[in-house]
Amino acid sequence: MKKFLLTGIIIVCLFMLGGCQSSDGTGNSAEEKNSSTVSQSNNLETSKQNDKSVVSKIESGTPANSGTSDSTKTLVVYFSRTGEQYGVGNIDKGNTAIVAEMITEKTGADSFEILPKEDYYPYTYDALTDIAKQELNDNARPEIKGTIPDLSKYDTVFIGAPVWWGDWPMIMYTFFEGNKDALAGKTLIPFSTHAGSGLSGFDSKLSTACPNSTIGTGLAIAGTDAQNNQDSVRENINGWLSELGY
Ligand SMILES: Cc1cc2nc3c(=O)[nH]c(=O)nc-3n(C[C@H](O)[C@H](O)[C@H](O)COP(=O)(O)O)c2cc1C
Repeated sequence: MKKFLLTGIIIVCLFMLGGCQSSDGTGNSAEEKNSSTVSQSNNLETSKQNDKSVVSKIESGTPANSGTSDSTKTLVVYFSRTGEQYGVGNIDKGNTAIVAEMITEKTGADSFEILPKEDYYPYTYDALTDIAKQELNDNARPEIKGTIPDLSKYDTVFIGAPVWWGDWPMIMYTFFEGNKDALAGKTLIPFSTHAGSGLSGFDSKLSTACPNSTIGTGLAIAGTDAQNNQDSVRENINGWLSELGY
């Protein structure tokens, strides 16, 4: 118990430190204030969770028609985890998945969920942070399950993920680097969910990984809000999308 408390305090401090390093400047302070404590109550059936997250999909929604952007040329790519997550206990739908869905609903974009080829990520928070830290230290490039959609069809790609240790999860770099040429000339718009770090430099890191793409104004949403304050999150997302021309 003592070990858990100590570990929790260290992780929260590290996340808050990450918040100081955030370079997004996109007005996310409201979300950042809302981070809460880590919930540790669970022991999940991994196989059950695996069943829930194995589907990679391209799904067409309803065109938005409210802005200047062409929704048929827009794709939302995201990575997200279920199970035990920071401040929200055990979740059936990942925080980033919720945000991604709100974006597709509003824009009518297609969407694609990035899943690991081999899903070795644990569904308990502490174990997941350990693996993610190891991947960060190793600069790992976990393989992606399935086939990436034909990116030539799209002008704009929204790209979202949880902040992991102040960075994109390493599997996102697999996507960026593996599709750098296909993403060249397109507008890439980053979004994060987080526990205090905001956008955590997602935009500049994306720009470095995909130097021939244009990086649009990103958005950061607190994971706790994605789960618990969905009306205000939707309002926030719709305002952002409206400024982007959707
Ligand atoms: C491995 C790991 C590392 C994390 N690192 C950070 C961090 O550096 N900064 C932060 O604000 N939140 C951090 N978090 C919290 C997540 O970014 C946040 O809970 C997110 O909303 C989870 O999204 P998801 O449900 O889509 O996976 C971390 C969570 C995990 C599991």
